[in-house]
Parts: sequence; structure tokens; C-alpha cells
Amino acid sequence: MTEITITAPDDWHLHLRDSDMLGETVPATARIFKRGIIMPNLVPPVTNAELASQYRQRILAARPQGNDFEPLMTIYLTNDTTKQDIIDAKAAGVVAAKLYPAGATTNSDAAVKALEALYPIFATMADVGLLLLVHGEVTESHIDIFDREKVFIDRYMSKVVKDFPTLKIVFEHITTKDAAEFVMAAPANIAATITPQHLLLNRNDLLVGGVRPHNFCLPVLKRNIHQQALQQAVKTGSSKFFLGTDSAPHEKSAKESACGCAGCYSAWGAIELYAQIFDEIGALDKLEGFASHYGADFYGLERNSQKITLVKESWQLPEQIILPNGRPIVPFHAGQTVSWKVK
Ligand code: NCD
Ligand code: ZN
Repeated sequence: MTEITITAPDDWHLHLRDSDMLGETVPATARIFKRGIIMPNLVPPVTNAELASQYRQRILAARPQGNDFEPLMTIYLTNDTTKQDIIDAKAAGVVAAKLYPAGATTNSDAAVKALEALYPIFATMADVGLLLLVHGEVTESHIDIFDREKVFIDRYMSKVVKDFPTLKIVFEHITTKDAAEFVMAAPANIAATITPQHLLLNRNDLLVGGVRPHNFCLPVLKRNIHQQALQQAVKTGSSKFFLGTDSAPHEKSAKESACGCAGCYSAWGAIELYAQIFDEIGALDKLEGFASHYGADFYGLERNSQKITLVKESWQLPEQIILPNGRPIVPFHAGQTVSWKVK
């Protein structure tokens, strides 16, 4: 196959940041994606309806003329989140709340320390129909970083999924065979997003021949058996797995540093890289469901009516991009060839 036309896709996990950075990130995503689930890990985090509505306005103001990209807003759960915060968020059009275990990732210091304390909040979310988005990693320092997702499943995720059968839960950016198997076997109230980097790469791409800071994200890339399990998961065509790029920009200087930030800025080539890997594994016929149907279905939203066409044609991602503040950022897969292109 050298050409494929699919329903226009959505990005179910996206970091746009704020202020002048929106001048870069919003057009880059809105180029292709019709909707995006906007992560709330700003500084300070987006913890309530009012902050989410204000943030949404700033995102809308950064859309290119005539573009109808729709930001779907989320709030950030903390140990201070109240039931009223959830009710107000739902009333303001917020679609989900994000659970970051404290210290798990970029700007997660404000996050949740004891999961059980949030049970009344989860119950309200299930009542009003707000989805729970979970960064599924434990954060205790004695637990190996490569095991943190699996331990989170065993300790927390399996319990929450069982205890709240009517709460829709997205296990975000899964990275392991364990997570893929868990989601596949779990009831219908749980689904997962998968990033381009976790389908394309494994931890060798992070560490062999030198440290590659632009391939560093959280959860960290795992060994190749996990990469293959994620590829197999999307190849099944199961509606439990859908697209979430986790496009997460950090300036070049913050990535190429003695203590580099986690996050891959994939918006410039995301749908093309998904097409490339789906093609490589012989699953192009499953791309449309993954990219454009299953996420909307799980969120209870209409599928997009527009189409996009991808052609098998090589092009190169830029080595770097200059941000609105004049400083450089290195996109994911920078300088490398991509084998599919949007027509
Ligand atoms: C994200 C970021 O930079 O905000 N980083 C990442 O590596 N994925 C945070 C996150 O989604 O965990
Ligand atoms: Zn993320």
C-alpha cells in the first residue's frame, strides 16, 4: 500500500505548555489533529474549572486562522481536590482528571501521595462522567525505574479498575508487555494510549552508542520485548488501544543537560511516524481505528467527519526548530527520514 485515507485523527494525550510556547505547539498539533486532550501539568498546575477555562482560551487564541482544533481540557488531581472541583469541572466542559503520582514526572510535585485518599473523588468522577487519566508509575526511590509501571499495576491500577467499574480510566502512555496484557484482559472501563516513541524505540535507542537525551521520556523506554508487545497490541486492532502522542516539548538546553528533562516533542511528525511503524509491522489497516476512532468512542464523543490522506513518500524532520522566544528545540526523530507523509 502506498496511500491511505483515514478519518482525521485526534491526540488523546498532549502537552502544549503555555504563554509564547503555544505559538509553536498549537499550530504544530493543529496541522493534523482535530482534537487534543490537554495535559494540565503547568506551573502551577491546572487544578480546577476556572484555570482550565482560562488555559483553554489561551490555546484557542494560538490557533492558526481558520483552524478548528478543539482542546479538550483536563484538571490535575491533588490531595486537595474536592468533589465540588469535579462537579464544577464537568459543568465547565472539562472531560477528564489526571492522576500523577507525586514526583513521577515533569511538574508533578503537586500530585497525589496517597491514592486511597482520592477514592471519594473517583466516585464523584464516575457519577458525573469525568474520565480518569493515569500516569501509571510508582515513585518510591527503591523501585527500579524499569519496574515502576508493573509495580503500579500490581499495587494500584488493578484495584482501582475493580473498585470503580463505572469509572472510565485511561492508562496513559503504556510502555510494557505487562501493561498491554493488563489492559487487554481488563473490563471495558479501561483503555490505554500508546506513544510513537514507545512503538518505534526501545531502551537501546536511549543508551547504545551514547546517551540520546531526545529519546528520553517518562515512562522511560523499555527493553525490546516490551516494544514488541506494544506493537502486537496495536496490531490486534483492539479498541482498547488508541493514539496519544505525549508530545512534550522542552527547550534544547533543558534536554541536552547534565540533568535532562523527560519528554519527546513529536507533534511535527506524529501521525507520519505512527503510519511508518504500523506499516513496518504490517498493520496499516489498523491505523484508522487506533488514530481516529477508538479514542473518540471511549470518550463518548463523535468521530471526526474530515479525512486525511497519507502517502508513502520520504521526507526529513528538521534538526531543530526555533521557538517563539528565539531559543531552539529539537523535535523527536530530528534530522531522520520518515517514510510516510501527509498529502
Ligand atoms: C511529560 C512532560 O514533559 O510534561 N514528560 C514525559 O516524559 N512524558 C510528562 C509526562 O507525561 O509524564
Ligand atoms: Zn504526558
